[in-house]
Amino acid sequence: MNSVKQRGFFRRDKVFDFLTPPISDRLDPTHGTLLYMEDVSVAFDGFKAINDLNFYVDKGELRCLIGANGAGKTTMMDIITGKTRPDKGEVIFGKNIDLLDLNESEIAIAGIGRKFQKPTVFENLSVFMNLELAMADFKSVWWTLRCKLNSTQVDQIEHTANVIGLVEKLQDPAGSLSHGQKQWLEIGMLLMQRPLLLLIDEPVAGMTHQEMEKTGELLLSLAGKHTIVVVEHDMEFVRSIAGRVTVLNQGTVLAEGSMEDIQNNEDVRRVYLGE
Ligand SMILES: Nc1ncnc2c1ncn2[C@@H]1O[C@H](COP(=O)(O)OP(=O)(O)O)[C@@H](O)[C@H]1O
Ligand SMILES: [Mg+2]
Repeated sequence: MNSVKQRGFFRRDKVFDFLTPPISDRLDPTHGTLLYMEDVSVAFDGFKAINDLNFYVDKGELRCLIGANGAGKTTMMDIITGKTRPDKGEVIFGKNIDLLDLNESEIAIAGIGRKFQKPTVFENLSVFMNLELAMADFKSVWWTLRCKLNSTQVDQIEHTANVIGLVEKLQDPAGSLSHGQKQWLEIGMLLMQRPLLLLIDEPVAGMTHQEMEKTGELLLSLAGKHTIVVVEHDMEFVRSIAGRVTVLNQGTVLAEGSMEDIQNNEDVRRVYLGE
């Protein structure tokens, strides 16, 4: 009984899939806030990893999320992407998509892409094929491998390779790329799905200084068209992209503002510098 209920049989709007418009058609991103989290809490064995969190991201923003280890950054991304269900609160995408009603793949289809810290490209396949496999459609991998791409699709792959600076590497196996290039390829693979919101976890960890700079330029070039939330520990990098910064502490927002605001914020200084 319970499992039947969980599958949504008792919800009229969920009985016939064809009666519900596709998620992407329902998304209304026209007003300012693209992501809206309010009063969100989640506890693991009684420990509140996220505690009455309020977090809002405007469309087109490049937001940096910082905070000590254990502050709740990853858990927050897990909640947005449907991997973890909060105990309470609201998580709304666009004006009208309740993310708590959707599972992980529905959330991805709705336009939220996530990049984990470790690159997960297909090492034996070329850069081109990695991008091709990541393309937004609902065909199986097998189908994708068998079919000829149309020119629009090839254009999209080449355009993305350009954006991530890997045009020259399109025919090279992904395994031959540097660590930084693999991170860019993975960002490119996310872009192939045309996400509205990109969640990126520690993109510059392990990068050279030069790669870090290029990553900053890449993210800045994507902002506006996409909305981006970056978790990053490297303060020099955060400063270099100079967006709005949110400081998370004990599962809740401690401070928010420009890097300068954050550095001068009394609460931040108290928590981080013991002042
Ligand atoms: N699945 C889980 N089960 C138990 N505790 C968890 C789980 N996920 C996270 N936590 C705890 O929640 C807190 C926040 O973790 P996390 O979101 O990973 O922080 P951050 O990414 O900011 O380092 C930590 O104390 C962590 O140990
Ligand atoms: Mg984390």
